[in-house]
Amino acid sequence: MDHIKKHVFVCINQRTADHPKGCCQSKGAIEVANAFNEAIGTSELANDTAMAGATCLGPCTLGPTVLVYPDGVWYSGVKVEDVEEIVEEHLKKGNPIERLRLRTPGAEAT
Ligand code: FES
Repeated sequence: MDHIKKHVFVCINQRTADHPKGCCQSKGAIEVANAFNEAIGTSELANDTAMAGATCLGPCTLGPTVLVYPDGVWYSGVKVEDVEEIVEEHLKKGNPIERLRLRTPGAEAT
């Protein structure tokens, strides 16, 4: 795995509809994860960038939550239409998307 330079974690956690914290899956996280898979897998990033679905990352009410390592950049409220911008600007050029950044990760424990 030495060839992997970045990991993209997308929270795809699911909770019951009546759970007070909600969950990322109910807000379209599966579609976001699929969009990352497609965008990464069909680009030059396929050789050095990994994408994984994750369980709860913490800030549930602000999801879907995305975390990019080793950059330590958290995104909240990510929609399918944001994925291409994250891939092109952040993953390829190293410029995080400021408007999507989560400033206080981990504020809500699971
Ligand atoms: S359910 Fe996604 S961050 Fe908690």
